[in-house]
Amino acid sequence: MSPLVFYFTMDSRHFFVIYKQSHLSSKGLSESNYSHFQGKRIPFPMPLPYHCGMNLKNDLLLRAARGEKTERPPVWLMRQAGRILPQYKALRASLSGFKEVVSTPHLAAEVTIQPVDELGVDAAIMFSDILVVPECMGLHYELIEKVGPRFPETIKTLADVESMGTGSSAADNLGYVYDAIGIMKKELNGRVPLIGFAGAPWTIMSYMIEGGGSKTFSKARRWLYDSPEGSHQLMKKITDTTIAYLKNQIKAGVDIVQVFDSWAGVLSPALYQEFGIPYLKQICDAINEVPVIVFAKGAWYATDELDQLDCNVLGLDWQFKPQEFRSKYGVDRVVQGNLDPAVLYAPMETIATITKQMLDDFGGAHIANLGHGVYPDTPLDAVKCFVDTVKGYEQIV
Ligand code: CP3
Repeated sequence: MSPLVFYFTMDSRHFFVIYKQSHLSSKGLSESNYSHFQGKRIPFPMPLPYHCGMNLKNDLLLRAARGEKTERPPVWLMRQAGRILPQYKALRASLSGFKEVVSTPHLAAEVTIQPVDELGVDAAIMFSDILVVPECMGLHYELIEKVGPRFPETIKTLADVESMGTGSSAADNLGYVYDAIGIMKKELNGRVPLIGFAGAPWTIMSYMIEGGGSKTFSKARRWLYDSPEGSHQLMKKITDTTIAYLKNQIKAGVDIVQVFDSWAGVLSPALYQEFGIPYLKQICDAINEVPVIVFAKGAWYATDELDQLDCNVLGLDWQFKPQEFRSKYGVDRVVQGNLDPAVLYAPMETIATITKQMLDDFGGAHIANLGHGVYPDTPLDAVKCFVDTVKGYEQIV
């Protein structure tokens, strides 16, 4: 008789799937390496989780992300930490600037927790910025008041790409982020999960070439045509750094990660196919320790490809019709979004009505959020109305 040994996988896609040893061998699964079962990667032996979200008082977000049925959709807002909160504005005014908050772990932790206290959201997102990645690779950024991010130096040549750092040696420069995560986890004390994040390679590259924000990102798009080889080299370096960075965040304690492809919408389908999707795929394939959310703003034209990524959750912007998405991609595909952030300028009753409509239309397998970051001048009461409407919603399970 074979001994009764149980193995359980603990990666983000297969939480607590328990196999008897005999079952493993009957499925031809190897214990020594990654195996495939029903088309999905299953790691054996079980990767020791740095933490597994089991000590959380509110783990709604993690359960929903793993595709479990939940009593109601979890709710949080992209860009909830910072600019909309009076507490953040007061703290920020007493300091030298945004980068001081980002690079001082106890301040970043304080700002991360403010929306949990003030808004009652189901998750905290670590206070940082996607632009710390180009910085750790060697490209310094500034944040100009009322203008936005700016890079004094940009990538112009292949030699510039070659001079950039990459992988763990670059990501290890971001010790202040990992220290901040340690404090955030301690201070959250298991109240809600902590979301880590990074920019997607295309979005990060577009800042490194463009030197700042832009309506068209025409310099960055031009570079894809002028120097496809340099572009791929740079994307590879950013991807390797991002994977190392997200893995460091996970080691430091984040419970789930989101990848922001904020400027996916400026690319043509062909360019996104070549420069967007393959690098997102590398990231999704590499991160197995915690659930992964991919949010590619404006990439509705690439939904088929995004749906194929090995990520747990697809973030949708507000230009998706929930029911249309459901009929094409199924009722089980976990999605996040997608209230138009401008709805939060409407009267409270309108906010509640449109929010409930969105929840009905997605009909479960859903993490309630906006379709992009909350706008800085959004009234706090409107944000609370959105959060409270979701929290008061009863989902039929
Ligand atoms: O609450 C949160 O979501 C966590 C913190 C967070 C910030 N930036 C803080 C921040 C996150 C997740 C980001 C991500 C980010 N940063 C993205 C992707 C998300 C998106 O909105 O598409 C992008 C494109 C950036 C780049 C960036 N950083 C811009 C364009 C700006 C200036 C304008 C703005 O959005 O406020 C920043 C600065 C920045 N990052 C601020 C904050 C709170 C404003 C700084 C301040 O005025 O104090």
